[in-house]
Amino acid sequence: IPVDQFDLVIFGATGDLANRKILPGLYRRYCAGQIPEGSKIIGAARTEMSADEFRDQTRAAIAEHAGPMADDKKAVTAFLEILEYVAIDAKGDGGWDTLKSLVRTEAVNAFYFSVAPALFGDLAERLHTRGIAGPDARIVVEKPFGRDLASARALNATLAEYFDETQIYRIDHYLGKETVQNLMAVRFANILFEPLWNSQFIDHVQITVAETVGVGGRGSYYDKSGAMRDMVQNHMMQLLCLIAMEPPYHFDPDAVRDEKLKVIRALQPVAPADIVRGQYLASKDAPGYLEDSEDPESTTESYIALKCHVANWRWTDTPFYLRTGKRLRARTSEIAITFKAPPHSIFDEAEGEWRENVLVIRLQPNEGMNLKVMIKEPGPGGMRLVQVPLDMSFAEALGPEGADITDAYERLIMDVIRGNQTLFMRGDEVEAAWAWTDPVIEGWEKRGDRPQPYDSGSSGPDDALMLMHRDGRRWRDIR
Ligand code: BG6
Repeated sequence: IPVDQFDLVIFGATGDLANRKILPGLYRRYCAGQIPEGSKIIGAARTEMSADEFRDQTRAAIAEHAGPMADDKKAVTAFLEILEYVAIDAKGDGGWDTLKSLVRTEAVNAFYFSVAPALFGDLAERLHTRGIAGPDARIVVEKPFGRDLASARALNATLAEYFDETQIYRIDHYLGKETVQNLMAVRFANILFEPLWNSQFIDHVQITVAETVGVGGRGSYYDKSGAMRDMVQNHMMQLLCLIAMEPPYHFDPDAVRDEKLKVIRALQPVAPADIVRGQYLASKDAPGYLEDSEDPESTTESYIALKCHVANWRWTDTPFYLRTGKRLRARTSEIAITFKAPPHSIFDEAEGEWRENVLVIRLQPNEGMNLKVMIKEPGPGGMRLVQVPLDMSFAEALGPEGADITDAYERLIMDVIRGNQTLFMRGDEVEAAWAWTDPVIEGWEKRGDRPQPYDSGSSGPDDALMLMHRDGRRWRDIR
């Protein structure tokens, strides 16, 4: 879908996110013909540099992070021409007049706060009082959106002083992932699943986000966060919401977000016995968590597994098991929905092993879906049952376009320009997520719980296996 001509200001334009995701993502959209002529991208940061120096920096970022499209030198040069740069003092006066002269009121105006949350208030105040951001301007903010309910509330209140909620785009990049959006299409564009989508037919749901990377290089941020704040409060919570929510009346920002909010509010507190936290150990070629975090006493978790319940009519008896961690065996994110047994079996045990139907939605890598069904084992040996997968990978089913999964940031930035907030978190959603997360964290802090060590390259601490075994269930393999 085409977008209108825009001026996008990126605060923190020299930072890591701008260089790794935002600028290369915009370049890819440029190559896709999605950036209308006359649009401008204005980098803003504390560093003094010329527009040409900023273009050089961006050229290098594209070469490193934009994939094969970076080889198109002509396109890179043309893209760099739409870039401007202004050195800005977020807490003072420097640069703001220049910025005002660069941002045209007749274009869509968007301001991306790719800076520490401590600066959100200063930026918002200056954009507003200096008349740079009008009532139709959009501001984009990144996670972490607070580190608990109180700080998230304070951030929301600060932004609300200058901007309406309809102008605020809080990014959770998981919502920009193609496969995450696909969850809504699968659930609400098919009749097959929805009649079975409840406690009567679903035994349990597993959500796994496993990573192979450690936290080296960002240990000081991560150590104040941990897996619960870094992944569960936001990304995994969003996945859970998309699985558990009621059908919205329309695919519309507030209709979708209202339903997600109800899920978060229906989440029960998590019992201490239903949480397992872990820290990765050193392997022969990589340091352990305690070295990466540079705090030998750290009790921050690099892994968490927990069982939670959505207390409403649809889900009352279906546990949701969530796990995420660093330095695990493989990089894999998936949601597995395990159905219950048919109410009565007409087959004897000797006629093959009955296994549950499982719907697996693979979020990354090898994006696709797999539905495990029972069939008759082919052959003359009588009626023997066997489980087979109905497997679909985007790449195979949709050809090269299916394999070309648009990066989450590209999609989300274009949605900002379009003015579509469906894939962004509303302030009340973020606060509700913290309201659920806070007591869990306070609980382990009060008890002084220490995370359990786990081997790098494993599937996490042994106790996490027990979390499911004691319920007569098991985690799917991480591979
Ligand atoms: C980020 C977290 O939000 O998401 C990181 O801060 C994590 O710790 C990352 O590695 C995972 O994102 P993705 O897109 O690689 O699954």
